[in-house]
Amino acid sequence: MSRSQAPDGRGTSAATRVAAVRLSRITHRFGTFTALDDVSLDVWPGEFVTLLGQSGSGKSTLLRIIAGLTTPSAGQVFINGADVSSVPTQRRGVGFVFQNYALFPHLTVFENIAYPLRIRSMKAPEISQRVSQALARVNLHELGDRYAAQLSGGQQQRVAVARALVYEPAVLLMDEPLGALDRKLRKHMQIELRQLQQDLRISCVYVTHDQEEALTMSDRIAVMQAGRIHQIGDPVTVYRHPVSSFVADFVGSTNLFECRVREVSPDASVLLATDAGTLFRVAGFRGAAPAHACHVTVRPEFIRLGDAMPAEISFAASVAKVTFVGNVIDVTCALDSGEIVNAELAGNTKDLVAAGDRVRIGWDFADMGIFPDSGTRQHDQ
Ligand SMILES: Nc1ncnc2c1ncn2[C@@H]1O[C@H](COP(=O)(O)OP(=O)(O)OP(=O)(O)O)[C@@H](O)[C@H]1O
Ligand SMILES: [Mg+2]
Repeated sequence: MSRSQAPDGRGTSAATRVAAVRLSRITHRFGTFTALDDVSLDVWPGEFVTLLGQSGSGKSTLLRIIAGLTTPSAGQVFINGADVSSVPTQRRGVGFVFQNYALFPHLTVFENIAYPLRIRSMKAPEISQRVSQALARVNLHELGDRYAAQLSGGQQQRVAVARALVYEPAVLLMDEPLGALDRKLRKHMQIELRQLQQDLRISCVYVTHDQEEALTMSDRIAVMQAGRIHQIGDPVTVYRHPVSSFVADFVGSTNLFECRVREVSPDASVLLATDAGTLFRVAGFRGAAPAHACHVTVRPEFIRLGDAMPAEISFAASVAKVTFVGNVIDVTCALDSGEIVNAELAGNTKDLVAAGDRVRIGWDFADMGIFPDSGTRQHDQ
């Protein structure tokens, strides 16, 4: 399914559609600790939804609740419209891929994949046919007779996916399935997994703490923080219009300034100041009152360096460090107030700066975010 057709509720009334997975007001406590706090989420048929969040934010717990491996303290789970809250895992129609693959090392690839079918008492000819098909889907047709322990990390990962898909589950759940792979293989498998999910049109809930992975693979990303979904949206929206400085900082990198309102002018423009004395004059900050705390954000790729810069906001700075990363160049600058600003220039930038150079750095008003410390975003990019 292409992104433009992303099953996100547009064009169709959500009330008339049946979600592949519906989580309704899920709360989960471990003793007195609340790991999930009133989480609701719809995953539409064929949709790839990623749970993205820091370690401990509740991603795995939520996935295990969908699978029926953990029973929530409160709330309901629906799969294709049916309340499965009290249905055991093996009858929920979900496939699960764990981070460590959980293959049986002493069984062959064929037997690993056949396992879910054998416990469902399927007949041998059908098992054989289904396992062959699953092997072909993940490009492992030649390796059916190998023992799982004799496979590379990437091959084991494919076997785990084949095993999760072999009984044609309605929903595929994956918990950091690429965590153990090196960067190059990881990137390759991201594309492969996404392609497979789209070919099969299978609904997928995917867990990662890698924001780049979430941005490249997902129809929608649910950003989790402390047991709650903090923001949910398609990758472009979450990246460009984060609802808080937390999301701006967690999804992608950003420069973050803690500010207070110093002055509100009669023309409604507002002067913000950091403790170090950096000043921003901004428009469009509704309801600002002197001393209000807020965060200002600007992503490194929106920052420009140069003398003749027509940026709306600019500062004198010194270059502290230049790191050539290949496709981009990271430039760390120190404002004269002492605050550090990271800029990311395109890798083909001709006029390279060097540590010690005096520069002007700046950005446009439209490229910055202003987040009052309580309340919603004031200004969109
Ligand atoms: N069996 C358990 N008993 C007590 N606390 C638990 C248990 N399982 C998880 N927790 C706690 O619940 C919170 C959420 O855990 P969870 O495993 O869902 O986090 P996560 O987002 O998957 O993190 P990670 O990225 O590290 O895998 C954590 O604070 C964790 O310590
Ligand atoms: Mg986890």
